[in-house]
Amino acid sequence: LLTSEVEFLKGVVAMDGLPPADRLEVCFAGRSNVGKSSLINALTGRRAIARTSNTPGRTQEINYFTAGDNRYLVDLPGYGFAKAPLPVVAKWQNLLKSYLSGRANLRRAFLLVDMRHGVKDVDAEIMRLLNQSAVTFQVVLTKADKLSTADQDKTLAQVRTALAKHPAAYPELVVTSSEKGAGIPTLRAIIAGLT
Ligand code: GTP
Ligand code: MG
Repeated sequence: LLTSEVEFLKGVVAMDGLPPADRLEVCFAGRSNVGKSSLINALTGRRAIARTSNTPGRTQEINYFTAGDNRYLVDLPGYGFAKAPLPVVAKWQNLLKSYLSGRANLRRAFLLVDMRHGVKDVDAEIMRLLNQSAVTFQVVLTKADKLSTADQDKTLAQVRTALAKHPAAYPELVVTSSEKGAGIPTLRAIIAGLT
C-alpha cells in the first residue's frame, strides 16, 4: 500500500454505481464513528484521503480507493447510527447490506470494533450477514490508545467469545490505533498479502 499509489476513485450511492469487479477488494465496515475512515488514512499514510469527523454518520457513500492497479480499498458508511432522518438511514443500511452480501470480488471485510465498546448487537447482525454470504471477515479493534492494556485484554476476550459463533470469522484479531500508528504495519501486511 504505497502512499503514492492510493487514489480516491469514486463515491457510490447505489449498487449499479459500483466499479467493475475486476480486482481484489477489501472493505472497512463498522459502527458509525468507530474509525473506519481514520484507519484508511493511517493505512495509506495519507492524512485526509478519507474524510473523518467527530460526528457519527460522516461517510454516507461507499467510497472507493484504488491501491495501485490491482486492489480496491472500500470505506463504508457506518451502521447503528439513528440520528439522521430515518429514510436516509434506511437507504444507507440497505446499500451496505446489498454490498456486503453481493460483491463477488470482496476478498475480506475488515470489521472494525471500538476497543472501548467491544462487539455490540448491530455488529453481531453484520457478522451473521457476512457469514451467510460466505464473506471472510476479520475484526480490527480501533482506538487502542484510549485504553490500558488490562482493559484491552477484557475487550479481546469478549470479542473472541462473540466470534466463536461465526465460522466466516478469521481468527486473528488486529489491535490498532490510527492516532498512534499501532497495528498499522500489521494490517498493511495482511492486506498486501491477500491474493
Ligand atoms: P462514520 O463515517 O461516521 O461511520 O465514522 P468512521 O468510522 O469513518 O470514523 P472516523 O474515522 O470519522 O473517526 C471518528 C472519530 O474517531 C474521529 O474524531 C477520529 O479522530 C476518532 N478516531 C479514529 N481513530 C482513532 C484512534 O485510533 N484513536 C483515537 N483516539 N481517536 C480515533
Ligand atoms: Mg467514515
